[in-house]
Amino acid sequence: MKRRYLMLLSLLPLGLHAAPAVDTSQLQSEAQALIPPFQQQLLATVKQAVAEGGPAKAVEACNLLAPGIAAQHSKAPWQVGRTALKVRNPDNAPDAWERQVLEQFAQRAAAGEPLEQLRHGEVVNGEYRYLQAIGTAEACLGCHGSNIKPELLTLLDQHYPQDQARGFKEGDLRGAFSLRRPLDR
Ligand code: HEC
Repeated sequence: MKRRYLMLLSLLPLGLHAAPAVDTSQLQSEAQALIPPFQQQLLATVKQAVAEGGPAKAVEACNLLAPGIAAQHSKAPWQVGRTALKVRNPDNAPDAWERQVLEQFAQRAAAGEPLEQLRHGEVVNGEYRYLQAIGTAEACLGCHGSNIKPELLTLLDQHYPQDQARGFKEGDLRGAFSLRRPLDR
C-alpha cells in the first residue's frame, strides 16, 4: 500500500515545475573570467582619455565608449554590463533581481564583509545571472566622489541630468558587474 502511494507520487509532474539541474559552478567561473578584461579595458580607456585631455575628456570618453566596451565584451551567449543602486547613466539602472542582490551586497558591506566576497550567481527565469561587487578606489573619486571639480560637474550635469553616482568615498560599494546568459534548456 505504502509503496503504491510512493509510486503514484513519483508520477506527479514535479519535473515540469522544478528548474533543470544546472552546473552553476561552471557558469560562475565562465562569468568570472569575462570580468577582468572588461574591467581592464574600462580603466585603460579612462586613463588614456585623462592623459590626452584631462578628466573632462574622460567623461566624454566614458559617455561615448562605455556602452560599446560592454557590447564588445559580451561574447555570445554572455551579456556583460555594470549596474548600481545609484547610477550615473539611467541605462545602467538595476532591474528587480539586480536591485535585490545589490541591496544584499550593501547590507553585507555595511556589516563589514570585504567587497571582494560580494558575488552572487543563480538561475532566474531560464537564465544564469551573476553579480560581482565593484568597490570605489581613489582613482574613481575625481568623477564619483564628493569633491568633483566644477568644470567636470558642469559636464556631468550636461550628459547625466539625473546623475546619482556622486558622493562616494574610497572603499564604498560603488556597484557591480552584471552578467547573464540564457540556458540551453
Ligand atoms: C573620468 C571620470 C570617471 C572616472 C575616473 C570613473 N568613472 Fe565611473 N563612470 C563615469 C561615467 C561618465 C559613467 C557613465 C558611463 C555610461 O554612460 O555608461 C560611469 C559609470 C560607472 C558605472 C556604471 C553604473 C553607473 O553609475 O552608470 C560604474 C559601476 C562606475 N562608473 C564605476 C567606477 C569605478 C569603480 C571607477 C574607478 C575605478 C570609476 N567609475 C571611475 C565616469 C568616471
